[in-house]
Amino acid sequence: MKKHSIFALSLLTAAVLAGCASLPSSAELDKIAASYVKADFKDKGIVKASVLQPEEINTLCTEAEVAGKPIDPELAQKLQATQLKTIKWPADGNYLGDWKKGEALAQSGRGQTWTDKANTPNGGNCYNCHQLSGTEISFGTIGPSLYKFRKNYGIDADPNSVAAKAMVEYAWGKIYNSRAYNACSVMPRAIHNGIITEAQAKDLMALLLDPNSPVNQ
Ligand code: HEC
Repeated sequence: MKKHSIFALSLLTAAVLAGCASLPSSAELDKIAASYVKADFKDKGIVKASVLQPEEINTLCTEAEVAGKPIDPELAQKLQATQLKTIKWPADGNYLGDWKKGEALAQSGRGQTWTDKANTPNGGNCYNCHQLSGTEISFGTIGPSLYKFRKNYGIDADPNSVAAKAMVEYAWGKIYNSRAYNACSVMPRAIHNGIITEAQAKDLMALLLDPNSPVNQ
């Protein structure tokens, strides 16, 4: 047994004894669990232990998940409003980069794991949850299909309409910080959490919006 495990076990034993055979309270158990996590999660390669710093929105979403019920709708609205404020809209008003780079990024799930070297570029990992072309043999289905994005999300109907422009902004915001629109979304907050850059997000936007990209074939 590792040193810290023995330490945690002795804490648990002490807690039980101190309580005269009563079980440790949930706060004490949380403390013990936290000591395990702190001892086990170290900076390694590309991964920094700081990712475990509790952030209010994550704590609240986890609590709701543990309770087995959705987060309170009013609270969700408040959290989303705060998340929305984190989004920076492209200063030049241009949302589009290079769809080919966007495709490579969307289809790559590399980066951000303990086995990746610190200089491994992060992938977008979009393929893990979304369909992104009509020819893919397999793709994730946790998120909605983004295939034929222009057609299915109402851009092609009238690209200059207010609705089409709002959809483009929504797509950017979603990639920037998915929780601005769904407080407990499972979609990674790609720019907000420093997974990808704004330039890379523009490449992803081009993948979704360029009529020539595989998404729109
Ligand atoms: C872990 C799964 C997951 C990953 C990875 C993921 N998404 Fe999502 N995405 C979702 C889910 C789920 C939704 C639906 C809305 C929600 O729950 O937030 C969504 C919604 C979206 C939407 C809005 C579509 C709609 O119908 O509302 C866009 C655009 C999008 N994702 C783009 C991307 C891009 C681009 C990437 C890669 C950078 C990506 N997603 C990575 C899960 C994911």
